[in-house]
Amino acid sequence: MEANRLNGIFRQVAAGSGLAMLLFVAGCRQDMQNQPKLIPQRGTEFFADHRGARPQVLNTVARGQLHEDSYFYTGVVQGANGYREEQNLMPFPVTLDVLKRGQERFNIYCTPCHSRVGNGMGAIVERGYKPAANLHDQVRLAQPLSHYYYVMTHGYGAMPDYSAQLTPVDRWAVAAYIRALQLSQAASEKDVPAGVQVKNLKDVAAEEHLPAGFAEPWALPSSAVQAYPNDVKQGYPAMAPAYPADPAIKIPASKPAPAAVK
Ligand code: HEC
Repeated sequence: MEANRLNGIFRQVAAGSGLAMLLFVAGCRQDMQNQPKLIPQRGTEFFADHRGARPQVLNTVARGQLHEDSYFYTGVVQGANGYREEQNLMPFPVTLDVLKRGQERFNIYCTPCHSRVGNGMGAIVERGYKPAANLHDQVRLAQPLSHYYYVMTHGYGAMPDYSAQLTPVDRWAVAAYIRALQLSQAASEKDVPAGVQVKNLKDVAAEEHLPAGFAEPWALPSSAVQAYPNDVKQGYPAMAPAYPADPAIKIPASKPAPAAVK
């Protein structure tokens, strides 16, 4: 008897606290649900222009967004004539780690078109993309370092920009690595430190069991779809002028221009 009554009281208390809990939780939710707030991309009556998303306050800079070193971020300085000017300068010292990072990023993002040595005959070009620039020709060798940064940031002719894939510091690392590549492709035995053995490319190919063609001059296969028109003076729409004078890219004379391009 007694035990039964006690049990009943317990049950009432338990039910009561359950109800209180429910009210408490529901109360919480009500508050959060209905409190005034702005929802991104939705209008509001609160501001005079009815926009929920607020523009940045004029003349203020958000934390972490102060880009004081404008050469580092843009790759250009204001020239004497008022126009932007590229510079043959790195904005920070180049260490071996910087070059290694640049090599890694170059091999990921640039080789599909420019190839690992930067001669502009990457796999995509072999399959019909506009021949990418040969980074070892006279034009490209003469360009100031920050030109490469600028090209990666904004794209160039048929080349898309790589600003989303490469942070500014990575773009500079790649630019520095391009200089190293240029040195490597034009180096003579005199440039190699004393005591370091220089191997013949043919011997390397034999050692590594690579096909004999590995050590021979590199040219686009004749099966590559040529983006150059037969008459190089006619550019294709949306394409920067071709470089017919570029000696490294061989244009098969007999190849007809693709018919589909009008
Ligand atoms: C999708 C193919 C493609 C990729 C990937 C690519 N490029 Fe290019 N690049 C091109 C083409 C094509 C041109 C020649 C543009 C033209 O003449 O229209 C070019 C031109 C250039 C030039 C020469 C610009 C000039 O002033 O003549 C540089 C430098 C360059 N690329 C650097 C890079 C770097 C660095 C990367 C990697 C971050 C890269 N490219 C990735 C296709 C590519």
